[in-house]
Amino acid sequence: MAVPRHVACVMDGNGRWAAQRSLPRTAGHEAAEAAVMDVIEAARSAGVTWLSLYAFSTENWRRPAGEVALLMRLVRRAIRKHAPVLHARGVRCRFLGMTDPRIPAPLVQDITDLMTLTRDNRRMTLTVAFDHGGRRDIVQAARSLIRSATPADQVTEASFAEHLPYPDTPDVDLVIRTSGEQRISNFMLWQVAYAEWVFPQVLWPDFRAAHFSECLDAYLRRQRRFGGLHRPTTMSGDGPR
Ligand code: IPE
Ligand code: IPE
Ligand code: MG
Repeated sequence: MAVPRHVACVMDGNGRWAAQRSLPRTAGHEAAEAAVMDVIEAARSAGVTWLSLYAFSTENWRRPAGEVALLMRLVRRAIRKHAPVLHARGVRCRFLGMTDPRIPAPLVQDITDLMTLTRDNRRMTLTVAFDHGGRRDIVQAARSLIRSATPADQVTEASFAEHLPYPDTPDVDLVIRTSGEQRISNFMLWQVAYAEWVFPQVLWPDFRAAHFSECLDAYLRRQRRFGGLHRPTTMSGDGPR
């Protein structure tokens, strides 16, 4: 099997990483940055062309205000620090979600600037799921479809998907969820329909390029069948029959 085109990571375990060191949870979030940068580079050099990272869910607003505020500050700091190198490495950056008015305006501005700076890059597309909820995306797509007045009998999976945010995003091939948790947590629900999943025990702040490679190796050992018998290469089944 070929290198996965689209890898998505649920970056979990920051709080437990900090607790193991008797540090506040926020220290775990701070330590996550090194893992993020390592994985972006590992994915890029492995030839993965789409990488999605789950950074903040619509449910994460339930966390204490101080933790939420720190997460917002850290994302802003990381963007300011790493924008030039991401751009130099040909990474197109996008943010998926981002509808809540509680996101601080200066952060929205920095995110917009990063997306504008990198929009013509093609080596890899990095999608940061931030204030993201898979169900919300599907509901927004339904609203957009209704506004388009498409006749009901013309609604297909393909035409529905055109109304999702970033409709050019290919289906996810591999999801990596760190920390041993085994659940979807409302992540890219439409796009993960036929993804392979791996659940490394390692906590996200400890996750490095070598762990990423192990996940790719596990993926390469899988046999994807998409419901058939003869290994078509995509969910739409355009491989050998
Ligand atoms: C993931 O780590 C980061 C975010 C959800 C923002 P957690 O903060 O969920 O860490 P645990 O699961 O409590 O260890
Ligand atoms: C999912 O992790 C969201 C992110 C990694 C950003 P959580 O830690 O918030 O998920 P649950 O609460 O364990 O499902
Ligand atoms: Mg968690």
